[in-house]
Amino acid sequence: MNAFEHPDFDDHALVVEHTEPDCGLRMMIALHRMRDATPSLGGTRMLNYETTESAMRDVLRLSRGMSYKSAMTGLPYGGAKAVVMGVPPTQLRSQVFEAVGRAVEMLGGRFRTGVDVGVSPDDVSNMAHATTFVVGTGPLPPAELTAQGVMVAIRAGARYRLNRSALAGVRVGIQGLGKVGLRLAQLLIAEGAEVWGSDPDAESRSSAAAAGVRISPLKDLHALDLDIFSPCALGGTLSTTTIADLRARVIAGSANNQLQAPEIGERLQQRDVLYVPDFIANAGGLIAAAAQLESRDAAWADRKLDELAATLDQVFQLANAEEISTSAAAERIARTRLDDLDPAR
Ligand code: NAI
Repeated sequence: MNAFEHPDFDDHALVVEHTEPDCGLRMMIALHRMRDATPSLGGTRMLNYETTESAMRDVLRLSRGMSYKSAMTGLPYGGAKAVVMGVPPTQLRSQVFEAVGRAVEMLGGRFRTGVDVGVSPDDVSNMAHATTFVVGTGPLPPAELTAQGVMVAIRAGARYRLNRSALAGVRVGIQGLGKVGLRLAQLLIAEGAEVWGSDPDAESRSSAAAAGVRISPLKDLHALDLDIFSPCALGGTLSTTTIADLRARVIAGSANNQLQAPEIGERLQQRDVLYVPDFIANAGGLIAAAAQLESRDAAWADRKLDELAATLDQVFQLANAEEISTSAAAERIARTRLDDLDPAR
């Protein structure tokens, strides 16, 4: 299937497939919105995709999500994403990421990228041998800012739905204890929250346990007696099946595309569960990249993170007034802001 025929195609400005057979690289890059003077931003993800279609779906949806994120954060960047199909053997890894760097370089600065799931800072350093167009390597670490942004989202959700102005004693379940999940757990525990977590990776589980996280089996976490459920692993974990067991009244996490299908947003609304839209809750990574590109300092990033709370209030109020899901409300606001930025589309 080509991009034009894909159900997630949203008039993306550019979709490229790139291969370098010598090292086995196969990848796709999508630029959802491209504006002359500003680059399009988004991380590079590496996964063992089962099909080419699932990689295409990821790159199209994730790049659109980045445009929404940018619009909701009041930043001028178009959304973009790269996906690397398949995890290479260790001995080829640095070669593969240099090749990814060459692909990024070919776009001449229209695309700036950094880490995402499956890609480490070392991989980005290897990309940087072939391109200068990498981000997230500045003084503000993206995972740290992402975790701080999720804290803003959790506070907003707790205030709005649980009527709690402090997080002491609030029970939070974090699905995925990687870079963001672990840091989020530390921030929550520092505020007195009780934190449970799950992760298939033994090392991540033991670092989290050392930080005070109570470890739960993967399949049980979402069904625990929680106030807040925080998906910080991969997308699509909120499905008809999982939300049927959910006891938390707020969902706020860093994973992209948490809803397995758009209608899950309506199901959550019917069940009176407040879903904090992912592309607002996880905007901290984009703020870190923007800070690097624009040479901004930590105080600017803090202000941008704080602004997310006002944006979330706007979303919650629109959802309430129009009796629509928070995901639909957020998408409506994001599309209006994008239309204002790109009136010709
Ligand atoms: P990461 O790769 O460091 O951590 C993800 C963790 O999830 C890993 O420890 C992995 O073992 C675990 N995991 C995988 N499947 C799981 C499952 N079924 N249940 C529980 N845990 C599972 O990734 P990172 O950077 O922490 O990102 C987490 C999420 O946040 C991703 O979806 C990413 O796209 C998103 N995000 C990350 C940003 C960043 O700056 N790192 C920025 C914006 C979004």
